[in-house]
Amino acid sequence: MDLDHRPTQLVFFPYPLQGHLTPMLQLAQSLLSLNPSFKITIAHTHFNSPKIESPLKFTLIPIDDGLPVNWQPKGGADLLKLVDTISSNCRAPLFSLLSRLNEEDPVAGFFYDGIMGFAGEVGTELGLKAMAFRTSSATSFAVFANIEKLHEMGYLPIRDFESEERISELPPLRIKDLPAFSSDNSVLESFWAGISQLTKQTKKASALILNSLSALENEALKMIQHDFHIPIYAIGPLNCQISLNLLPEDSKCLSWLDAQPPKSVIYTSFGSLAGMDSSQVAEIAWGLANSGCRFLWVVRPGSVNGYDAAELPSGFMDQVGSRGLVVGWAPQKDVLAHQAVGAFWTHCGWNSTLESLCAAVPMACWARFGDQKVNSRLACGVWRVGLEMGREVERGEVERVVRRLLMEREGEEMRERGRELMQVLESSLEKGGSSYEAFEALVNKLKS
Ligand code: UDX
Repeated sequence: MDLDHRPTQLVFFPYPLQGHLTPMLQLAQSLLSLNPSFKITIAHTHFNSPKIESPLKFTLIPIDDGLPVNWQPKGGADLLKLVDTISSNCRAPLFSLLSRLNEEDPVAGFFYDGIMGFAGEVGTELGLKAMAFRTSSATSFAVFANIEKLHEMGYLPIRDFESEERISELPPLRIKDLPAFSSDNSVLESFWAGISQLTKQTKKASALILNSLSALENEALKMIQHDFHIPIYAIGPLNCQISLNLLPEDSKCLSWLDAQPPKSVIYTSFGSLAGMDSSQVAEIAWGLANSGCRFLWVVRPGSVNGYDAAELPSGFMDQVGSRGLVVGWAPQKDVLAHQAVGAFWTHCGWNSTLESLCAAVPMACWARFGDQKVNSRLACGVWRVGLEMGREVERGEVERVVRRLLMEREGEEMRERGRELMQVLESSLEKGGSSYEAFEALVNKLKS
């Protein structure tokens, strides 16, 4: 790789949620590792400002997001509004910051989370190379790029949310896998319209960066490449270690895992956003207990009916004793890499999915909303390293799935396929691999 020692400034503007911040910082870190002459600036909102623990050589600059101090979303509706709030409040401060930085030291690349289209407009207005980074799968991006076609073909609006009918234009998806956030079509139609508009806007970016690779999502990447006449860099899986936690990690996890036999534990965690109600908590708890298997379960503060601490069913911890541990937040990558972990019950957020693949841990897939349904389909129907679970969590199904993954041959076969896939992912990041080459091309674009 061409190492030239002039400092080249790159500015990153992440979307302030865990599942978006981590991959954006990983992208910055990976570029810095490839070319230490990059000078990295992270422009970030006050809301969820990144507290980076490892000694990264990034300059962090807050910009005013106009949100009340200590504001926290109260539910899905607040989260959906967050993009609009940031779009209207951050445009002017972002513009001033980028112009100031560019005057001080020319900005060779401005990387923004593609769900904040306004940031791309600001970068382009200032004449910068504005690069859209989408943190979810290429397949879900391809769905968003084809909303109009899906309407024309009659797949949208969705008539049956559980329909197994295949979408011929978007193999391997079925109607039930479309990334919906609601089963109310009037809500969904405005979501489709907004996301379709946003996705089209990406066509004006200088480039599109995806945390994926052809070995995982060849069809979708080809489709995007065909429809978008801008450079596409598929640089995934981003897997460098970044200690970025918006919640405090529970340090007990790893020592507890050290005391468990190899491949005996199901790690259970549903990411940073999805919520549950008490009856779902009870189904999960009794399903795990009745499986007889060991488990490490993350119940995020605020995730159960919005309460800080979730109430577990009475008698549950007495029944499971030391074969189960419940924590508020885990060091997920270290947990997945631990030899005691044999399966991951996940909501299939894209980061969790990639982290599971990078550790060759088979998945129980309980997709909750949005792109998670697409990712679950890929894990179960394409890579065949996951078992699909029903939308309504039910203790009998939980018990069966946990046992199939941890105690039956099926789980071992998935682990074997997972190990093969993991090697493919690792070699894509080595010299000559597709992601390495995409990174190299991206670095060359930044230096040109
Ligand atoms: C959501 C979407 O579902 C996802 O597909 C989209 O790309 C981003 O927004 P989220 O719920 O945050 O994501 O899930 P995921 O993408 O899996 O990201 C969660 C991150 O939190 C992962 O990097 C995971 O390692 C981390 N995590 C989660 C922990 O470090 N500890 C935990 O206990 C739980």
